[in-house]
Amino acid sequence: MGFSTTAIHAGNEPDPTTGAVSVPIYQTSTYAQESLGKNKGYEYARTKNPTRTALEKNIAALENAKFGFAFASGMAAIDAVLKLVKGGDHVILGDNTYGGTYRLFSRILSNYGVEFDLADTSDAPSLEKYFKPNTKMVFVETPTNPVMTVTDLKAVASLAHSFGAKVVCDNTFMSPYLQQPINFGVDIVVHSTTKYLNGHSDSVGGFVALNDEKDAEWIGFVQNSIGAILSPFDSFLVLRGTKTLAVRMEAHDRNGRVVANFLTEHPKVQKVYYPGLVSHPQHEVASRQQRGFGGMVSFETGSLKNAKTVLDNVKLCTLGESLGGVESLISHPASMTHASVPEETRNKLGITDGLVRVSVGIEDVEDIISDLDQALAATGA
Ligand SMILES: Cc1ncc(COP(=O)(O)O)c(C=O)c1O
Repeated sequence: MGFSTTAIHAGNEPDPTTGAVSVPIYQTSTYAQESLGKNKGYEYARTKNPTRTALEKNIAALENAKFGFAFASGMAAIDAVLKLVKGGDHVILGDNTYGGTYRLFSRILSNYGVEFDLADTSDAPSLEKYFKPNTKMVFVETPTNPVMTVTDLKAVASLAHSFGAKVVCDNTFMSPYLQQPINFGVDIVVHSTTKYLNGHSDSVGGFVALNDEKDAEWIGFVQNSIGAILSPFDSFLVLRGTKTLAVRMEAHDRNGRVVANFLTEHPKVQKVYYPGLVSHPQHEVASRQQRGFGGMVSFETGSLKNAKTVLDNVKLCTLGESLGGVESLISHPASMTHASVPEETRNKLGITDGLVRVSVGIEDVEDIISDLDQALAATGA
């Protein structure tokens, strides 16, 4: 079946009780048992809930995975995956992941003896030197947030597997419509469903998709033991969101390309970060492993003052954290999403004080462009 058919039908069986075409919100904490030890497959809602189960089947299918688990946030999903490693294990972490992922490693997992090294995963051959006998996992994000560095997933997966390590990919920026990491040998895919999968800026959630049965059993055990589950209402929202994922991502991708080209030509913009531009250093890899380039575009305004002027003057784009919603959002990574990354590391990665990130929405693209144009004009000569 094609992607859109899967998105609309996987997990979305008519409700067995009423025939409701839309999976109901099973707002219940527990389930009546027929007699001791006899139930309909549901006992307590932290462990299992039919709305969440429907979503888990749906996104797992979209990621070409056998198993899926929905969590209360993207960070809860990432934390659950990192429960596959123990104190004394070593992880190679992409040097430009979401700031919260870096914070989880540097401030929390390090307290439990998990070792990690930051590496530029976009340079796959150079990764070899980071592997140690205790390396159990490589964690990548591609494209990265916010400078859009692309990692060759196939190359990293084959290198990691040759050292007996698993590869985890944060696929939040692309969504399974634009990129299916499992097809390139990635073992585990994580998402912040808060972004494109839900797509309407009205739910916080996370997801883990994978094929290995033993690891899936452990992730399910962690989900139930720790309890950072996605609520029935949020499961319903995300399930509704994925039905239109293909059409939304096509629109984000179309608008993203137009906005990136507009910014490239703009005299007030010093640099544009977008994998769809032929000038992007990994444009060829992105063209090979992605169906499109998406709606995330970052650009360099040259100074904090210019960035602030742009952010203060936009009228259509909303200043705010997050991304992947139907509405265009604009942000300042250095002080917002990446504030927890040390300044020196930020500067090395290009996350300067003048960098502005746009999550290009699916409004009429002419309106997005004229908004950015008038905000850039306000930066003066
Ligand atoms: C790429 C990426 N991964 C993970 C997260 C964390 O997700 P959440 O905010 O749903 O916990 C984010 C949040 O912005 C993100 O951008």
